[in-house]
Amino acid sequence: MDVYLTGLRNQHAVETQAIGTVKNELSRMEPYPELHAKMQQEMERSTTQAARLDSLLARHGTKASLAKEAVTGAVATVAGFAHVGADDEVLKNVLAAIGFKAYEISSYKVLLTLAEAAGAADDKTALEQSMKEEQEMGDWLGSHLPNFVHAYLQQRAA
Ligand SMILES: [Fe+2]
Repeated sequence: MDVYLTGLRNQHAVETQAIGTVKNELSRMEPYPELHAKMQQEMERSTTQAARLDSLLARHGTKASLAKEAVTGAVATVAGFAHVGADDEVLKNVLAAIGFKAYEISSYKVLLTLAEAAGAADDKTALEQSMKEEQEMGDWLGSHLPNFVHAYLQQRAA
């Protein structure tokens, strides 16, 4: 149960990080309306996912750790978005976002296994819902990648 609760807190920190990162990046995605709209949705979903984790932690009589949220440097690196000003910033950011989604899908898979092992099978519905959302976002980004390349080339030529 301890390992599971720590996992929930870690993922809460990941979602919090994601909200902040996307918030910083959003204005620079305005030239790419489709991506901008999807990232806006991503920010809302991350907020919902963090709230789901809050509920699960509360169900087990505990809560997210603010100290933990401050030490998510590794996650920030995975999230990427460290490409500000690069000529092909949008492409680098989309690649980073795809990597970040893969990380999150796997994180929820770990949490589902830990929930089972901790005898908290009731938590699985909420975790599965979040995992499905991460999968959907990852698939969307992957399938739209060629569009972003074309949009980038157009921007560049303009
Ligand atoms: Fe997420």
